[in-house]
Amino acid sequence: MHTIFELQQLIEKAIREVEYPANPGKLYEPISYIMRLGGKRIRPVLLLLSSELFNHEASKAMEAALAIETFHNFTLIHDDIMDNAPLRRGQDTVHIKWGVNNAILSGDVMMVEANKHLTRLDAAVLKNALHCFNATAQGVCEGQQLDMEFEQRTDVSIREYINMIRLKTAVLVAGAMKLGAIVAGATEEDANYLYDFGENFGIAFQLQDDILDVFGDPAKFGKQVGGDIISNKQTFLLLKLKELAKGEDLSLLESQYSNTDYPAKIEAITTLYNQYGIRDLAITKMKHSLDIAFSALDKVSAAPAKKDELLQLAHSLIEREH
Ligand code: IPE
Ligand code: IPE
Ligand code: MG
Ligand code: MG
Ligand code: MG
Repeated sequence: MHTIFELQQLIEKAIREVEYPANPGKLYEPISYIMRLGGKRIRPVLLLLSSELFNHEASKAMEAALAIETFHNFTLIHDDIMDNAPLRRGQDTVHIKWGVNNAILSGDVMMVEANKHLTRLDAAVLKNALHCFNATAQGVCEGQQLDMEFEQRTDVSIREYINMIRLKTAVLVAGAMKLGAIVAGATEEDANYLYDFGENFGIAFQLQDDILDVFGDPAKFGKQVGGDIISNKQTFLLLKLKELAKGEDLSLLESQYSNTDYPAKIEAITTLYNQYGIRDLAITKMKHSLDIAFSALDKVSAAPAKKDELLQLAHSLIEREH
């Protein structure tokens, strides 16, 4: 079994070795740009760890890992257009550098590139792998649609929010883990327990992303701090504040939704978050999802010692700063 660090190295090497066509340059340059911009590579690492649980050599699952990371980076390009985000991994977003139309089309062709990686898998696992990949990709689109619709609504419940982040973020983490198990020839039962682990871990991961969006250190976060506040994202933080704030505080909050002085808006809402202890409530919610994830991992029929890297990775990502 490889360590997380070794897997990251293998993934970086495999990403560097992928060749895209040279022309038209404006179609393919953004792909190399985003893929080589760095990033935590957690989905391919989880996929390879998942496949190694069943004694499957990581290099044999690499095409599946590349498919997932390419798809993830495609979703980031389109997400940054939708979220009007200027920064990604500490650099200009693709639509800022190449324009929105280019960012749309480069994203589209990345979906094709992701499929090309998948077709290089063994024929014996290909059908199941494609089924898993397609279900995952469709879930992400559904989640992203809900995320945008929620920006226009003021009556989103915490239940609806959890379902939205399950779709936009957690199903990809879950799908990556299931794909790792499928490629390794694991039983359907084990593949599904890993899916459950990934789904609940993915929910915790997005909760942490929402926390960092407000409380992250701009020097480390790599994205615009306060972006979710600017665009009235219905995050757990905002929904919890709406539930708890009363009287003048609630009026103050509601008056901020249309505030176009963004620094003032970010400051006003962050102050309310601090006043109501919202960050700690979000951390408690995140830990709860993590506990559910760990109990699913317990049920996977692999030696407990083999699960250690996964547990370690899950803990470190929850304490991450970017
Ligand atoms: C960003 O994913 C999108 C979310 C689901 C929060 P990551 O935080 O994994 O981004 P990179 O790939 O490490 O940059
Ligand atoms: C992540 O949502 C979901 C996808 C990219 C599919 P966010 O919009 O919170 O992700 P970041 O914060 O921009 O990375
Ligand atoms: Mg975004
Ligand atoms: Mg988004
Ligand atoms: Mg975010």
